[in-house]
Amino acid sequence: MLEVEDLTVYYYTSKGVVRAVEGVSFSISKREWITFVGESGSGKSTVAQAVIRLVPYPGKIQGGKILFNGKNILELNKKEMRKLRGREISMVFQDPMTSLDPLRKIGDQVVEAMTEHGVDEEEAKKRAIKLLKRVNIPEDRIDYYPHQLSGGQRQRVAIAIAAALEPSLIIADEPTTALDVIVQESIMELLQELKNSGTSIMFVTHDISLAFERSDRIAVMYAGKVCELGRSEELVSNPIHPYLKALLDSVPDVHSDKKVKAIPGNPPDLRNPPSGCRFHPRCPFASEICKKEEPELVELEKGHFVACHEVV
Ligand SMILES: Nc1ncnc2c1ncn2[C@@H]1O[C@H](COP(=O)(O)OP(=O)(O)OP(=O)(O)O)[C@@H](O)[C@H]1O
Ligand code: SF4
Ligand SMILES: [Mg+2]
Repeated sequence: MLEVEDLTVYYYTSKGVVRAVEGVSFSISKREWITFVGESGSGKSTVAQAVIRLVPYPGKIQGGKILFNGKNILELNKKEMRKLRGREISMVFQDPMTSLDPLRKIGDQVVEAMTEHGVDEEEAKKRAIKLLKRVNIPEDRIDYYPHQLSGGQRQRVAIAIAAALEPSLIIADEPTTALDVIVQESIMELLQELKNSGTSIMFVTHDISLAFERSDRIAVMYAGKVCELGRSEELVSNPIHPYLKALLDSVPDVHSDKKVKAIPGNPPDLRNPPSGCRFHPRCPFASEICKKEEPELVELEKGHFVACHEVV
């Protein structure tokens, strides 16, 4: 359904060019949940925003293809793009206030998400009540303003809006980060229900445990590149890239007395990323070749891709 090939996105800041995403390729199938995980600044949000062409200024999509049902999104004009957003692909942000209008009642906002795309007003109203019910917002709240709801409820409304036109793909960028664990679970469950009814989910998180919770596949990002990609069970039972191994070692496990190890060092400045493998300054296995040559993402086993000189 969605195929991204060689996506490259730079930010042209006054302090230099930030090479935020370089040569990223992946696909998403119908009814699939794919999660992008990695440390802060690894380019997860930039990839997510690029898919729906919402990379903020001073960002620019430098190259690549984003094929949605065979059509390159990067070649659509503004009108075609507006039609696609919401109807085919929609986005849920970390802070629901980014997409909700603080001055308008939530019911009206859900209705508008549909009327904007040509749904008749009466029909949209009926559907809005059903949608809000589905995300567990009682009917008597339909006239509430966003500030009268809790953070979790606001995120539910944002998801109702994203789901209003039954898009093929919902992109959710850290939608639960600001919420407590129980509310977080309820949002994850809601996305799972949408997936079960046929929507694909592109989920973004820096939380490695959350990443493995519901995903079919996982893309691990480091410094603007995908370093490991594969089925979720495969990555947790057989992680290969030293960065993914380190990420998994950095998570506390309540069921064992495993020692938690923080990853030494910091992610690089993407205005001037390290040569060769971008992880080499932090990698315990780095050798000479790692400093010079960039490892390619290769398929080691069926559907399991890794970019590391040590394992190829
Ligand atoms: N608007 C912007 N202007 C300039 N640079 C930006 C902008 N947005 C992101 N960047 C840079 O691009 C790189 C990737 O950022 P991005 O926000 O995609 O990472 P992320 O993985 O989503 O991080 P986080 O977990 O903190 O959300 C970082 O180096 C960041 O500083
Ligand atoms: S390519 Fe080298 S530096 Fe990079 S992860 Fe593999 S071993 Fe480490
Ligand atoms: Mg982000």
